[in-house]
Amino acid sequence: MKPLVIVTRKLPASVELRMKELFNVRLNGDDKVFTQKDLIAAVKEAHVLVTTVTDKISWDVLSKVAPDLKMIANYGVGVDHIDLVSARNKGITVTNTPGVLTEDTADMAMLLILGITRRMSEGEKMLRAGKWKIWSPTGMLGMRLRDKNLGIIGMGRIGQALALRAKTFGLNIHYHNRQKIDDGLEKNIGATYWTSLDQMITQMDIISLNCSSTPDTRHIMSRRRIGLMKKNAYLINTTRGDVVDEDALIWALEEEIIAGVGLDVYKNEPNINPRLLNFDNALLTPHMGSATDEARIAMGEKVIMNVKIFLDGHSPRDRVLA
Ligand code: DGY
Repeated sequence: MKPLVIVTRKLPASVELRMKELFNVRLNGDDKVFTQKDLIAAVKEAHVLVTTVTDKISWDVLSKVAPDLKMIANYGVGVDHIDLVSARNKGITVTNTPGVLTEDTADMAMLLILGITRRMSEGEKMLRAGKWKIWSPTGMLGMRLRDKNLGIIGMGRIGQALALRAKTFGLNIHYHNRQKIDDGLEKNIGATYWTSLDQMITQMDIISLNCSSTPDTRHIMSRRRIGLMKKNAYLINTTRGDVVDEDALIWALEEEIIAGVGLDVYKNEPNINPRLLNFDNALLTPHMGSATDEARIAMGEKVIMNVKIFLDGHSPRDRVLA
């Protein structure tokens, strides 16, 4: 009997087809999200579990795994929903899908930057509501991007791809990262490195969060740091909701401490804090940074390669270390 691969969500058709050809796979045809009970049942039965960001693989789940479960192949880059330390202690290999959604997620960040600074969603809503009376010299004014400062927190693949896009819009690129990127790359991007995140924040017109969510980056944009932002500055988040203190962000919008936000990710997805919905200066999208046909198929192909290599007895390239 071939090892059982259980997939928790419906994946693009071509990906599922290839999985059926290669593996003894159990797919999720109706795409009903697995409950904790379903996940526990799956880890008791599967040899490989293919997860997504919507599956919380906590200790509660991992403590129930049967010895057969040897791999969690995540469909996505972020693995903050998986208790990596417990997985390692259980001898489970965890993989993800880096590199194939970089461009799309950077596009999304750029879209939020453009959209919020030029009040695109607000204008569209006004027009659809029949409230647009006439062109006005003083109506719907936003902020010009050229010569403004963009501060990127987390200069990995997506941060760099965003920087290149933003540069062509005339933004000055600044960044804070665990480590300075290499000089050649920094020069190519034309980016300025700040060792002090606090100091960088005080000088930026736009701040974009592009770091992964880890215990170290949780609430990296804390209430104190949000308070350091310029009054006319915008915050963009396309990574994970928990890198921002969301309650503090709502406070900052209510108190007009910052100019606005562009968010694709939230603290309790998909349950958005209803207070966020009150702000015209909040451009909100439903976690769709990697939502292109191309990215979602490429993510599936990565999962297939990782699982195949693993089941063939080799070490997959996209192993995530705890
Ligand atoms: C990712 O790849 O991390 C996306 O946010 C979907 O999980």
